[in-house]
Order: sequence, then structure tokens, then C-alpha cells
Amino acid sequence: MDARLPYGLLSEDYSLPKRRHIKMRVQLLNAFWRATGGLQRRSFHSSCYCSGVVDGRKPAVPTEKKITIGDVTYERDSWTNITPKVLEHLGRNLHLQQYHPLAFLKRRIENFFYKNYPGRSRSPLFTLFDNLNPVVTTEQNFDSLLVPADHVSRAKSDCYYLNENYLLRAHTSSHQVELIRMGMNNFLVVGDVYRRDEIDKSHYPVFHQMEGVRLLTKHDIFRNENLATELPIFDPNGLRTAEKQETHTLDAVYILTKSLKTCLNELCQELFGKDVEIRWVEAYFPFTHPSWEIEVKFQGEWLEILGCGIMEQKLLVNAGADDKIGWAFGLGLERIAMKLYGIPDIRLFWSVDSGFLHQFQVDDPYTPITYKAVSQYPQCINDISFWLPADGTFTSSDFYDLVRSIGGDMVEQVSLVDEFHHLKKSRWSHCYRIVYRHMQKTLSQEEANKIHKLIEEAATRDLRVEIR
Ligand code: DAH
Repeated sequence: MDARLPYGLLSEDYSLPKRRHIKMRVQLLNAFWRATGGLQRRSFHSSCYCSGVVDGRKPAVPTEKKITIGDVTYERDSWTNITPKVLEHLGRNLHLQQYHPLAFLKRRIENFFYKNYPGRSRSPLFTLFDNLNPVVTTEQNFDSLLVPADHVSRAKSDCYYLNENYLLRAHTSSHQVELIRMGMNNFLVVGDVYRRDEIDKSHYPVFHQMEGVRLLTKHDIFRNENLATELPIFDPNGLRTAEKQETHTLDAVYILTKSLKTCLNELCQELFGKDVEIRWVEAYFPFTHPSWEIEVKFQGEWLEILGCGIMEQKLLVNAGADDKIGWAFGLGLERIAMKLYGIPDIRLFWSVDSGFLHQFQVDDPYTPITYKAVSQYPQCINDISFWLPADGTFTSSDFYDLVRSIGGDMVEQVSLVDEFHHLKKSRWSHCYRIVYRHMQKTLSQEEANKIHKLIEEAATRDLRVEIR
């Protein structure tokens, strides 16, 4: 898929009837964020599906003037949209637990890099960073990665901002430049990442990514290929084409791409088995060119598992590594772990219920485990319909956050099932279907109704909708 395509599509689609338009936006969203996003349904650009709304009212945000995380206090401002519910996930560090499917998957990928890339004097070539602070600056999350200032992925409707300058990282790529600046050439970053989203079995506002970066000098490139003559890797007068950046020679990019493809093909085989079918699909990221997404065939379906590419040379120059060229990738752990362990619902990763955790109480991360549902509790389904405020400040992501803040993990899914425009009133109406299901017990309809009532009240108060 050429990820540049949707920019074109989007501008034309505005002429479509609203209902169809929403459907297409959702399809684009899915296509875009599937690669690595939450749960990796989205690659970095998916957010371009949204109309770039960067203001809007924030529900369920406490009104204290400051937010304290660890020892650091952040002043609120008009960008603040972090919710207490989301803040509760900070520090859970599922990937650092001894017995957890995400930690097992992380260790398997880590081991793959240690085994395949031995460094000097038997220490591994790749260094792992798995405890970096998830609070990052907009510089780290966007600017250092060459994300344009007006790019829609910065929208408040997509990220959790503490204030104008700080947010919870939306991807582990945020740490690339600081680590390169520190002198790291080969490293992995694992951590929790945060994106505002709709709610269903495979989407959660917090998920985990692993980032990999490998930098090579001219000497490394040609020595690794056993080539006696070293050719130039930089071209001062080059042109940017589909195959390469302006500053790179085709020889260098060819060898670097081969190194990237060998590494990631072998990683996919390691995780999904020697015979796995793999396809490389052209993609677009602001921080790599050329870029790809990798899909693997799992139980008959193509599954996008990561985004990758040749790192933009400008990024390396800014990070002080102008004599090197490199590749990078970012993959989502939940999406892969759900397939490998047959975990049907992303909320289960956060479960502290022994019914879940006991199934992963093994010392060897390579133990094949297929998750068995402890029991299936019934769902309660309630609809909520309301008129939107006339001033256009309502956004669906605000509503999803409000639902999540009040219903917590009892909400399995929220979807926009209907919308219409009342000509006389000149107002829009939305109807959302909320599916409630408790993970550990049967939720009675009365209990669901109580939560539903609270959601109605909060939406009226905080989002200024009018319940119909
Ligand atoms: N950060 C991207 C995302 O979250 C994934 C990604 C793509 C990471 C390409 C990379 C890369 O390092 O080179 O969607």
C-alpha cells in the first residue's frame, strides 16, 4: 500500500455523503494504523484520516491546575487532555513483568537480536532500553522525527497531552534521536505508548511497541558484504527517487535494504515459524525513505505487524551521526502476542485476575501457550443518542475518552451507529452503541444502566450534548 494515497483520497472524499465519508475515514484509519498501532492497527500516519481538529473541549479531565507524574509537575494549559484513567496505566510496565505474554514476546525478540548480532568480546551488539520515561516532549515525539509542524498526527484528538510541550509518547520512535545523540549505534527500545482511540477488542489507549535502530558506517557496510572495494555511501549531487534519498548512493541503499530485509524476514520466521509467508508493502513515514510495512500470513489472514525503512539522513545529521546511514523499525507487541497466544481481547493484557496470569506462569518464554477463556460473561448493550452542541466543538474521541473514564474496563466497545443532520434545527445528532461486559463476573443490566446513566450525565455536563 502506498501510504501517500490517502492524503489525495481524503480531500476528494469530503464531497461524499457524511455517513459514507465516516465509513471511509474508518477504513483509512484501519489501513493506516494497522502496521504498528494500537493495537497497531495504525501506522504513524493513520491519524491523517482525521480532519486535523486541534482544539475541542476535554471531558473528564480533573480541574486541578497541575499534573504530577513521579517527581515532575506539569502545568495544565489548553492542550491538556490526559484523563486520570489513562494516567493509571503509567508505571504498570507489563513488558517488565516476570510472567506476562508481552514480557515473553519482548524477551524472544530481544534474544533474537542478541543471537544474530554478536558484538565484540561476546557482548551483544544491540543495547536494550526498556525503562525510558513515557512522558516525552513534542520535540521528541514529532520534531526530531521530521514530522511537519502542521501534521495531523499532532492533533489533540490523537494524542494524550499533558500540556502544549509534553505528551505521553505516541510511539517508541520518540527516543531514536536522543539515543543516537548519546552515541548508540544499535539499539532496541521497548515501552508503553499512548493514543486516543475508539474502543473495541483490539484497541486500547495504551499498548506496547518495540523499536529497533541499526546504524552503519561506510566501512561496516562494505565489510559486512565482504566487498574488497569500498564505494561511496553519500552522493552530494544525488536526487530523491522512489528507491533512495538524495544524499545516499544506490549501492549503499541496496546493501542497507538487504541488511534490513534479512533481519526482519528472519525475525518473522523466528516468531511465526520457518514457513511463514511474508510480504513487504511500500509505506510512508516522515522519518524513513524508502519505507515499508511487513505483513505475515497467519491462519489464512494477512496481518500487518511492523513499519520500517531507511532512516532519513537529515534525522541522523541532526543527531550528530552524519557519517552513518541506518535502518529502523517499530512493531506492536499486543497485535503479535494476541495471535501467538490466542488472546481474544486486548483488555486481558491488563488483567490482574489469576485466571489470566496463571496461564503464563512459566519460566521459559518459548513455551507454547494457547490462552483458554476462563469464562464468557454476557454483554449488556445500551445506546445513547444526543444532539451535538451547535458550536462544533464535539469530537467523537472526546466522547470515547469520557466513556472510558467512567465505564473503565467494563466497556468492551463503543461505536457510532447512526448520525443525522436536522435541517430545521440545523444540528447534528449522534447515536453510539456501548457494549458493557465485565471481565471477571456477570454484569447485571441494572449495573450497566447505572454506568450508562453516569455517562449520559457526564456527556451533558462536559461535552454539552443534549440527550434525546
Ligand atoms: N513509529 C511508527 C508507528 O508507530 C512505526 C515505525 C515505522 C517505526 C518506521 C520506525 C520506522 O522506526 O522506521 O506507526
